[in-house]
Amino acid sequence: MTTAPQQPTAETVVRDLTAARDRTLHLTDLDEPELLRQHDPLMSPMVWDLAHIGQQEDLWLLRGGEAGRPGVLPVDVEALYDAFTHPRAVRAGLPLLPPVEARGFVADVRARVLDGIEAAGRSDDPGTALFPAAMVVSHEQQHGETMLQTLQLRSGPAVLGAGTALPPGRPGVAGTSVLVPAGPCQLGVDGVEEPFSLDNERPAHTVDVPAFRIGRVPVTNAEYARFVADEGYRTPRWWSERGWAHVAEAGLERPMTWHADGTRTRFGTVEEVPGDEPVQHVTFFEAEAYAAWAGARLPTEVEWEKAASWDPATGTRRRFPWGASEPSAQLANLDGVALRPAPVGAYPAGASAYGVEQLLGDVWEWTSSAFTAWPGFTPMLYAQYSEPFFGGDYRVLRGGSWAVGASTLRPSFRNWDHPQRRQVFSGIRLAWDV
Ligand SMILES: [Fe+2]
Repeated sequence: MTTAPQQPTAETVVRDLTAARDRTLHLTDLDEPELLRQHDPLMSPMVWDLAHIGQQEDLWLLRGGEAGRPGVLPVDVEALYDAFTHPRAVRAGLPLLPPVEARGFVADVRARVLDGIEAAGRSDDPGTALFPAAMVVSHEQQHGETMLQTLQLRSGPAVLGAGTALPPGRPGVAGTSVLVPAGPCQLGVDGVEEPFSLDNERPAHTVDVPAFRIGRVPVTNAEYARFVADEGYRTPRWWSERGWAHVAEAGLERPMTWHADGTRTRFGTVEEVPGDEPVQHVTFFEAEAYAAWAGARLPTEVEWEKAASWDPATGTRRRFPWGASEPSAQLANLDGVALRPAPVGAYPAGASAYGVEQLLGDVWEWTSSAFTAWPGFTPMLYAQYSEPFFGGDYRVLRGGSWAVGASTLRPSFRNWDHPQRRQVFSGIRLAWDV
């Protein structure tokens, strides 16, 4: 069991819904052509994300997930926002709601859901009753991160500010590692301890993990630049067969946002690549090749979760790497406000029991694990969230990035993507056999 089960309330859920909406409206506070444009074939036009957020909130909170019941939008309009029917690359060609109507729609849905959330908060089991609303918060926050990916891929003058200030890093932590001794730990969580955990994080179960070493902090830009300078992208021995084929096919030479002259473009602004920041925008294939070059490997997601959550002194699981307290600006870089990862060593107070730092926030960390169900998996209300993706061509990413909403992240949270994707705010943490 974790040390501090939370008892959710309607107030905290409304607070989280409001925070997610504030971010959505901030990110979509753009001129109409910017919202309607397809900035990249991998991404939706942002006006689609906006109305889709409202459509999902309508479906799960006003209709209990029953898609056959009439919603706020006419049936043919609602169908435009079904992510499974319309691939991202074709969404700009659909007769989508214009931005003004999309904003009106999401506000209308939100006004209608609040009474139901108050009622759920008064139930005998608020954790269960409020779960659909927490799922909707998680959905909207995930789209906030997706829209930030879109704005990173977008070309043209910057539309976001510089981002908030971050704490300084500490010299000497890059490239260091800690030992996680062999032994059992709890993997995953249960609804009692984490009522808002999603289906793929459950159920809690005990696993025995052989000893391993893991990077104290993520791999930095300076470390990764040495791999690039050492002809890493021209040396097949570091790459898997698929990875090497992808390097050739996609013409990869360096991380997504980097230029040949040591600069990068971040949200439309060209700047020096900061050496002490975690490298981001790398594919799984690049992460794997870097690890091979560095004489290491990627952690499994089981190793990652043990390093992040297990407290060997007490034989219990911590709610967060640092303990029971909620994430804060002193503990982790989250919520999408910094617009960048923090330098390594910036959060000594956020270290896990084993002394591993920056596990939550900063960059999603590629693991070597395929996306599978934990034993005893049961689909949640949104049954299509995880199950269709189990066993597919995905690798699991852990820990969240600087763009993730803090209220939706836990050490058990699992993200997954295709191994060739790097529009994600993805980075690398190394591991070693002992
Ligand atoms: Fe969605």
